[in-house]
Amino acid sequence: MCGIVGYIGKRKAYPILIKGLHRLEYRGYDSAGVALINGQGQLNVYKAKGKVSELEAYAADKDTDGCIGIAHTRWATHGEPNTVNAHPHYSESENLAIIHNGIIENYAVLKAGLQQEGYTFKSETDTEVLVQLIEYTQLNRQVDLKTAVQLALQQVIGAYAIAVLDKRQPDTLVAARKGSPLVVGIGEEEYFIASDATPIVEYTDKVIYVEDEEVVKLSTKGQSTEDEGIDISTINGVEKTPEIKRLELSLSQLEKGGYPHFMLKEIFEQPRTLTDSMRGRINVRQDNIALSGFIDNKDRFLNAKRIIITACGTSWHAGLIAMYAIEEFAQIPVEVEYSSEFRYRKPVINKDDVVVAISQSGETADTLAAIQLAKSKGAFIFSICNVVGASIPRVSDSGCYTHVGPEIGVASTKAFTAQVTALTMLALCIGREKGTMSEDHYLAVVRELGQIPDKISRVLEQDARIADFAKTFTYAQNFIYLGRGYNYPVAMEGALKLKEISYIHAEGYPAAEMKHGPIALISQEMPVVVVAPRCGTYEKVVSNIQEIKARKGRVIAIVTEGDELVSKIADYVIEVPETEECLTPLLTVIPLQLLAYHIAVVKGCDVDQPRNLAKSVTVE
Ligand code: AGP
Repeated sequence: MCGIVGYIGKRKAYPILIKGLHRLEYRGYDSAGVALINGQGQLNVYKAKGKVSELEAYAADKDTDGCIGIAHTRWATHGEPNTVNAHPHYSESENLAIIHNGIIENYAVLKAGLQQEGYTFKSETDTEVLVQLIEYTQLNRQVDLKTAVQLALQQVIGAYAIAVLDKRQPDTLVAARKGSPLVVGIGEEEYFIASDATPIVEYTDKVIYVEDEEVVKLSTKGQSTEDEGIDISTINGVEKTPEIKRLELSLSQLEKGGYPHFMLKEIFEQPRTLTDSMRGRINVRQDNIALSGFIDNKDRFLNAKRIIITACGTSWHAGLIAMYAIEEFAQIPVEVEYSSEFRYRKPVINKDDVVVAISQSGETADTLAAIQLAKSKGAFIFSICNVVGASIPRVSDSGCYTHVGPEIGVASTKAFTAQVTALTMLALCIGREKGTMSEDHYLAVVRELGQIPDKISRVLEQDARIADFAKTFTYAQNFIYLGRGYNYPVAMEGALKLKEISYIHAEGYPAAEMKHGPIALISQEMPVVVVAPRCGTYEKVVSNIQEIKARKGRVIAIVTEGDELVSKIADYVIEVPETEECLTPLLTVIPLQLLAYHIAVVKGCDVDQPRNLAKSVTVE
């Protein structure tokens, strides 16, 4: 996700801002920029695509004077990663500059209103709309910067952490947040703002964590005491007393949000990242899903004779779950292909095929090649990706971004649940449009989707217990993971998580397949993880567990809260809340992510960068 940094005080701002951007690089980004008000009251904005070092090279011979400035690393959500879309964004008069982390859902409506007032736009971003709205408010209401920001934010729907400068008020920096984090650092005759404390910690340990819908005005004019230059109020103008806290975390801990590894941080981010990935796509009444990539290409899906899903690794597991949902809801035949096989086996591809390509990075070579092959045969390409402007979305005809922010841990977790969510929303859209799923079922699933983030939070509350019993399994050389229906792909995903970070061999299997060979492997030395929520062919899974127990196998079962059958026969039980069958993977995968993580940690493995693995396999 984007990173923001700001400074106002007694020192040159530029070096502090650039160092702050470097501190935020761990968040992942694709462009960077800085805005400074120099001693002559000029507002200079410098931006560059790529790394912060590119920005430094670009600004090396520019005027970087000034004791007040803001800076930004952009993780693209609206608009390609390029210099035009990079932040900071000027207002039309170039009196204002803004940086923003978040998504403004109603930016299109706001933009249309400003265009009717004669405003023009240079970028595709939602952020530029906000700075124009602030300027419009300033001019029409004749108010100061902070009041204009408050009034403008009252019209905004979405998430934001912003900082705004006005060259006509060079001793004032205004910031605000809702849904995206914002921290104020308090120094000696100087203030800092940032997305988190990592750019601040080396200057001060006194911070204020800004709350949702709060606007902060920082000024050094006539500041005599440390909090005199701080003015905090809500966007509705209610004054707030600053609550100054002390930072206790180290820099490294701060980058991981206080977690020991990025992977654990990303596992725990899932309630928020799923909320982000559904934001603006499920309406407030939770009775309709709007995926623009589907809406704009409805006929391609409705007339499709077949949907081919192509992906690798964890993304392939998400695709396998989508097969169950699309065939159940939309009754369109689905084939799920490993991209590496699909691209070479001379597949039959027709013009009325729809190919859904799934990739977190958007750069996986095999998936890119599979897309090129399908395109050459005239198929329609729809991609599900997490990186805006990556190669795969760029060569696709349409698609849907997952918007979960950068996934740093090599083992994919939050991207997987967001992929499953996006694919389920796509299946629901097709099914409803085709009339092949009942309105009641559609509404039930859409409403339940809205409950999933909270239900994931409830599963995460079992982390300590899972960590505790994970210790008893580090002896194992082999695991088997079993599931049926929607949870057969979850079994495969759980096995992949374990093997890629703990280096323990693990296989995912359809539970019924045990009788066709793997049951010969059952022994006390090989733990069996069974994904057994109370839905679908639950009774059959129970029989499979009994077959394993009869042969002295040790079973870890993932069950629905209140399960009384499996809980009596399994050795270890982890409960997940009840939900719609098609949504159970979003809950049952969480304990498997945690189990793999904790076993790997106890084994002393490099969880975030496992041996031999890369986050994005850009070679075949
Ligand atoms: C999953 O934990 C692995 N990192 C790997 O299997 C990954 O899912 C695969 O390489 C596909 O990557 P992509 O989603 O970026 O295309």
